[in-house]
Order: sequence, then structure tokens, then C-alpha cells
Amino acid sequence: MSTSSQWSSRLGFILASAGSAIGLGAIWKFPFWAGANGGAAFIIPYIVFTFTIGVVLVMAEIAIGRRGRGSVMNAMRQVGGKTFAALGAFAVLTSFIILSYYSVVGGWCVSYLVEALSGNVAVESADALKARFGDLVSNGYTNIAWHLVFLTLTCGTVVLGVEKGIERLSKYLMPTLFILMIAIIIRGLTLDGSWAGVLYLFNFSWDSVTPSAILNAMGFTFFSLSLGAGILVTYGAYLPKENNIPTSSIWVAVLAIQAALLAGLMIMPAVFAFGLEPNAGPGLVFITVPMIFSHVPFGAVFAVLFYICLLVAALTSSVSLLEVVVAFMHNEWRMSRRAATFTCWVTLFFLGAVSALSFGVWSDFTIGGRVFFDFLDYVCSNFMMPIGGLAVAVLMGWKAWPVMAEELSTACAYSPAVMKTIRIAIAYLAPILVLVAIYQGVFG
Ligand code: PHE
Repeated sequence: MSTSSQWSSRLGFILASAGSAIGLGAIWKFPFWAGANGGAAFIIPYIVFTFTIGVVLVMAEIAIGRRGRGSVMNAMRQVGGKTFAALGAFAVLTSFIILSYYSVVGGWCVSYLVEALSGNVAVESADALKARFGDLVSNGYTNIAWHLVFLTLTCGTVVLGVEKGIERLSKYLMPTLFILMIAIIIRGLTLDGSWAGVLYLFNFSWDSVTPSAILNAMGFTFFSLSLGAGILVTYGAYLPKENNIPTSSIWVAVLAIQAALLAGLMIMPAVFAFGLEPNAGPGLVFITVPMIFSHVPFGAVFAVLFYICLLVAALTSSVSLLEVVVAFMHNEWRMSRRAATFTCWVTLFFLGAVSALSFGVWSDFTIGGRVFFDFLDYVCSNFMMPIGGLAVAVLMGWKAWPVMAEELSTACAYSPAVMKTIRIAIAYLAPILVLVAIYQGVFG
């Protein structure tokens, strides 16, 4: 999208923002993250975070973008001055790093789509599926090759300017994905022993609430809403004035959380029914979903459809990440969009390759007990994005609240009580929750 263009409709903006939010985070990361962090002890804080600080930060980011225009750095500069401009640049770095490892998982999706097309994805044997996933991620060359394919698809989309096309496509494929997930959920729930998975997801006990589960839940909230990385600021810059920011924001949050919960319900019951481990890690979705498909008529066909939807969901997210970086390079460094995209393609290939290798030959190289891929994700989700969110909260809650108030009310006037609630959430609740979660998670 060129800098001067605007969303053609309100729906276009919501679709793009929801498209950015809904992706591998909801479908791949959420189930295994919930599994690793004790189920409900992770999910309940995630829901609470989303509807408190998540929604208001979405509003604040869009408001900054629409008021400031241009790249996230420029928008932050216009609204908040030099210091905030620097924090805007920090958000660009966050997006860049996320895209590097996001693309590796995107590559796994491409690889499973290709497998599905060749008709041998819907396999019943857990051991065979585990071995396949293990082979994929531990073989550095194939892992890097698939990463390159996904990265190229992402860069190609941006350079050809077909983001709009992808969005339009996602208008059909997102609902299809939801319907497929519901069908898979129904099949999963009718398997023997699946109910244990539902209990695992929603049975809350205080015992399993640990500081690190809370920190991870907060980090996931940022990840799943695409917060603190300049995405919504950049997208907001293309938003016309008549658009109602609060309602759009609520839509984005509701769609994102719905996707994650559906994915959890799609995976967990089947995990228990098939006797797999809920904390099996990043392979969870790639092992469980094919097993379910092996239990439905025409499973092979549905598998293809499922991986197409998943790939498009991943692309609408990766494109948003790249858009932040390209808009920044274009605006601040005066690079053409083409040159900027090409530069990203090359540099992200190498950075992502390190992540790709960290499941295989470089798995001995760890930072703080985490392989490189996990380390980047930990730092981005739990620190860099929350710091970006903190900057946004301080800017719009304190320094530029009048701008926020004005931007929220361009389409309709809200009562003083509503505005006050939003103000308290952005000025107090968001900073406090972020700081407490980080402090607890690190020192608790
Ligand atoms: N929200 C995306 C997802 O869940 C990932 C993402 C994170 C996209 C940060 C943009 C910015 O898949």
C-alpha cells in the first residue's frame, strides 16, 4: 500500500488488523503455550489481559497512527516528540526480529501444505507424525528452505503490492478457517476421552498460577493482538477520520481471542483422546491436527483446505510485520519500497536461518536455557512488545491524552464515564500490569 492510500472501507481496516492478529500465534502458539503453562492458569489471565489493557492499547496504537501518519517512528514523533520517535524505531526492530522467526514457523505451514497436497498428511500414527515433525525441524537445510519459501511469499506480496488481494482473499478464507476449526472441534469432542482436554483448558486452580505463567500470558496477549510492534500504528495511518476506533478495536480483540480459543478447543481434547502430552511443545498442532484428519471422511481433502487457510492466516500476519519495517525504511531512510523489501528479504533470511538451525544442529547453543528461536520469542513477546506497549500507554495516557480523546470520538461522542474508564485503563492499568507482570516473571 502506498503511503498516501487509505483503506477503502471500514471492513478493510478491521480485516487487515484482525488478519494481522489472527495467525500462527492463535493457531500454533496458543495451544502449546497453554499446554506448557498449565491450561487455565494461562488462558484466564490471557482473556483478562486482552479485555483490559489489550483493547485500550489497540485503540491507542490506532489513534497514534491516524493522528501522526507515516511510519510508526514518524507517527510517534508527531504525537510525542523525539523520545517517542526513538521508541517507535524500537518497535520497528521488534517487528523485524519477530518476522525472522515467524517465517520459520510459516515455513513449516508451507511444508505441511505441500505434504497435504501429496495426500499423506492425514496419518493415524502418533509416532510417525512425531517423527515427521522432528525430521522437518531438525534437518537444517529443509527447515531453512521452507523458511525461505515463506519469507519470499511475504516479501513478494509486499513488493507486488498485493496485500489488498491477500486481504480480500482472507475475507473468504478466515471464515472458512473458523468453520473448519469448528468441524474439527466437533470431531475431536466426540472422541473417547476428549473431555479431559476441555477440563484442562478451563479448569482453574490457583495452584497452577505462577509468575512465569502470568508473564507468558501477558506476552502472549501482546503477541496475539500484534501490539507494541508498530503494526496498528502503521495500519492506523491509513485509516480515514470517520472510522470509529473503539468499535474497530473491540472487533479486533474479539476476533483474536475467538481464534485462539477455537484453536485450543481444536487441539486439547484431541491431545487427551489420543494420549499425547499437552506440553509437547511447538509440534503440538502439527502432530494433533493430522491425527484428527485421519479420523474424518475425506480427511485428506480437508487437510489441504486447512493448511491453505493456515498459510493465508500466517501471511496476513507476516505481511503486517514486514509492512512496519518497509514503511519505516521508506519514510525515514528514503528507500524505495522495492529496495527496502529486498533488503529485508536478505537480512531476514540470515537471521531466520539461525532460528531455523536452533532446532537442529545448533540446539546446543542456548541463551538463558533457551535455544535461539525460543530466546527471540521470549524476548520479543515478554519484553520488547510490552515495552512498546508501555511507551504507547505513557504517550496516550499521559502526554497526549487530549489527542487520544479526540481520535476516539471522531465518529461518535462517548459519555464522560466511558472516556474516564478508558483513560484509567491506559494511564494506570496498562503500565502497572505490564510492569508487575515483568517484575513478577523475572524476579518472582
Ligand atoms: N499476531 C500475530 C499472530 O498471532 C503475530 C504478530 C505479532 C503479528 C506481532 C504482528 C506483530 O500470529
